Parts: sequence; structure tokens; C-alpha cells
Amino acid sequence: MFGKFKHWFNGKTNHQLKINPQLINIHGHQYLLRCATNQDVSSMVEIERQNFGTPPWSANAFELELSRFRDRLYLVITYDSQVVGYIGASFNWYHRESHITNIAVLPAYHSQGVGEHLIRALFQASTRVGMTTMSLEVRVSNTRAQQLYQRLGFHQSKLKRRYYIDDHEDAWEMKVNLRSEEEDN
Ligand SMILES: CC(C)(COP(=O)(O)OP(=O)(O)OC[C@H]1O[C@@H](n2cnc3c(N)ncnc32)[C@H](O)[C@@H]1OP(=O)(O)O)[C@@H](O)C(=O)NCCC(=O)NCCS
Repeated sequence: MFGKFKHWFNGKTNHQLKINPQLINIHGHQYLLRCATNQDVSSMVEIERQNFGTPPWSANAFELELSRFRDRLYLVITYDSQVVGYIGASFNWYHRESHITNIAVLPAYHSQGVGEHLIRALFQASTRVGMTTMSLEVRVSNTRAQQLYQRLGFHQSKLKRRYYIDDHEDAWEMKVNLRSEEEDN
């Protein structure tokens, strides 16, 4: 119990969620993984537009998320300085759960492992600060994303009926247990 309080308290006070930039090799190509900044917002909106048509998230929505440095972490992967994918998460310090708010990869870069690297980077960043679970919601019709999540250990935990505001599609809530190094004491 004390451990839970400690993480909640840390979240309230001195944690700034971030990762160090790192070069990653995906199938022989060198990409850069780093924290997202306000300069990346237009690229993130463009990735949304290319995947969804009308971007579900506006530039303002992304900027607001990026300003919440104590309970949000947004990562991008770039190739030749171009942002090709991003992932965002919220952190619940009391429940030690990180929640993927958004993930998308430029269609031209799909199926090359960028999405998997983004999720694995979030696994690492989450366990490092003591998160024990990660969750997300995904459209029932988005079987491709669900397959990726299942391969990375997520399981369907709950069906959320009429979850999406625009067309009332149902969502699967999916969860994965993260192996935490930290002990609850
Ligand atoms: C879901 C999404 C983020 C996945 O990103 P991605 O970079 O394509 O994901 P990955 O490449 O890591 O993995 C996807 C597939 O490519 C395969 N793959 C990976 N490297 C590959 C390669 N070199 N050659 C062929 N296939 C490959 C993986 O095995 C995986 O296969 P699967 O879908 O059958 O499980 C991406 O499809 C996307 O942006 N979709 C639109 C937005 C969206 O739906 N977001 C999720 C909202 S919940």
C-alpha cells in the first residue's frame, strides 16, 4: 500500500516523464526514437489525417497533452528527420497504470515494425517509473491493430459499447501486465 502512495506522490511532485533520444535499427534502417515536442505537432496531425481522413485530434489537443509533462508521455519515431509515427500515454500514478491515448504510423511506413517499437518503448518507460499495467481502447473493427497488441501481450479485458462519439462503434479495452522491477514496499 505504501508503494502505491509513493508512486502517487511522486506523480504529484517531481516526476517529469521523458526518455533519452535513442537510435534504433528496424530491418537495417536507422530510425530515431525521442520525446515529442510542440514542433512535431503538425506532423502528428498529418499522420492522423493520412490514417483517419479528418484528424480526430486537433493541433490544440496535442499541444495540451504535451504540456502535461507529469502524467503524459508522447514519443515519436523519425526517419531522415521526418516524423513517421507517434505514441502517447497517460500515467495513473495511484493505480500504476499507463494508458495508450493514441498511436499512429504514416501509412507509407506501416508493417515495418515502427508501431511495435513505439509500444515497446512505452513498456520500458512505464516499467521504469513503476507502472504495472498498460491499457488501451481499440475499435472492434480495427483487427490489424488488435493483432499487433495481442502479439505484444495485450488481452481483451472489457467490451465498451458505443464507445466512439462519432459513429458509436464499440471498443475493446485491452490490457497487459508489465513486469515491474520495483517492489511494493
Ligand atoms: C496500428 C498501427 C499503429 C501499427 O503500426 P505499424 O508500424 O504498421 O505496426 P508494425 O509494423 O509494428 O506491426 C504491424 C504488422 O506488420 C508486420 N511487420 C513488421 N515488420 C514487417 C516487415 N518488415 N515486413 C512485413 N511485415 C512486417 C508485423 O508482424 C505486424 O503484423 P500483424 O499486423 O499481422 O500483426 C498502424 O497500422 C496505424 O497507424 N494504423 C492506423 C491508426 C490506428 O489504427 N491506430 C490504433 C488506434 S487503437
